[in-house]
Amino acid sequence: MSAVVVVGAQWGDEGKGKVVDLYAPYADLVVRYAGGANAGHTLVVGGEKLILHLIPSGILHEQTRCVVGQGTVIDPAVFLKEIEALDERGVSTEGRLLVSQRAHVVLPHHKLIDELRENKSGGAIGTTKRGIGPCYEDKVARRGVRMGDLLDAARLKSKLDANLECWRAVAEDLGGNLPSAQEIAAQYADLGNALRAYIGDAAKIVRASIQGDEKILLEGAQGTMLDIDNGTYPFVTSSNAVAGGACAGAGIGPTDIGSAIGIAKAYTTRVGGGPFPTELEDETGQQLRDAGAEYGSTTGRPRRCGWLDLVALRHAVAVNGLSEIAITKLDVLTVLPELKVCVAYELDGERLEYPPYERVEDVKPIYETLEGWDEELPSCRSREDLPPAAQRYIARIEQGVGCKVGVVSVGPDRQDTADLSDPFAS
Ligand code: IMP
Repeated sequence: MSAVVVVGAQWGDEGKGKVVDLYAPYADLVVRYAGGANAGHTLVVGGEKLILHLIPSGILHEQTRCVVGQGTVIDPAVFLKEIEALDERGVSTEGRLLVSQRAHVVLPHHKLIDELRENKSGGAIGTTKRGIGPCYEDKVARRGVRMGDLLDAARLKSKLDANLECWRAVAEDLGGNLPSAQEIAAQYADLGNALRAYIGDAAKIVRASIQGDEKILLEGAQGTMLDIDNGTYPFVTSSNAVAGGACAGAGIGPTDIGSAIGIAKAYTTRVGGGPFPTELEDETGQQLRDAGAEYGSTTGRPRRCGWLDLVALRHAVAVNGLSEIAITKLDVLTVLPELKVCVAYELDGERLEYPPYERVEDVKPIYETLEGWDEELPSCRSREDLPPAAQRYIARIEQGVGCKVGVVSVGPDRQDTADLSDPFAS
């Protein structure tokens, strides 16, 4: 069992990009298994920032091959742009990057409908407007266009004709105009041609890798609380972001997976609408936003910030079967003299250890206050290097959720990391 899943344990933006980038040198293959260009994985290498939306964060390591699995939804123009941006930095993707021919294509009208719906509802869900929801709707309705279709102009055109027909009334109702099938077919056939060498049977590559006893890192997007089934529905994304999504999204079985590592920020953030029990709408929340540069890497929106929520994290440990947690952005908490962690919720006078799916917006957080620290952390390389109060904070997380903490990220750069170890070793 040589596959390890890396999954967001909160509401996304936990720092999965950095952790996957740190783990990638230990892996032969990195596979992205869900979501699309709604994700923004920020990598900082040598002080230089790079944001990847679709290509797995492992691409920066020359010996690592990368696959984008069938569970994802692909905006081919974004994919091509990322290949070009990497090329400009001297990172060659040729022969080491493949996207599944079964991954669904995000079409121009998916983005249009996503935006029109958001505008009409006054941004109720607060989607990224990247067309993710409408694209997954097409997939489930069995009328989607897949990456393999881009390679056959006639098939593409006929699929687009049928697909657009289904959206016409929806677009009209929202006051939008759909582009013609002709227009989209021409543009997307060109994109298909440009990407021809990158489109193929990704699941076959993953299977061969498993049979060859290679080490595979399965890279999640978004987070557990944004998962369509395990999150705060309807304020969720449209895919299975949890570790279980890696099986269907990469084309493997559960027994191929050896462990699941959950990534969690040392505090909590959320972008878009929906319940957030530990949200801080005050000066402290703003301090976290400023110190943590909490602005969306895909949309630039300010992220909602709040205290660490051990109830949500406990849920993530359970539904992902986490074997370990990696804590990121611990250094951001250095700005605060005193820290609160939510250890349970109260609902109708009852203490809850796990989120009540339907009524998360009604719970009251029960807090415990912990002492902060004022020492700078980025030079810490192991848990023992951390100030005692920071060590106690980590220990409280472990005790509160019943899962050990491994890696601790203490700054944005690769080197600002404590207790990095081979994720395939255990
Ligand atoms: P969608 O995935 O664009 O449909 O957006 C649905 C919800 O998920 C919105 O609240 C978004 O802000 C949130 N979301 C989607 N992708 C991410 C992400 O990568 N990080 C954080 N939130 C996300």
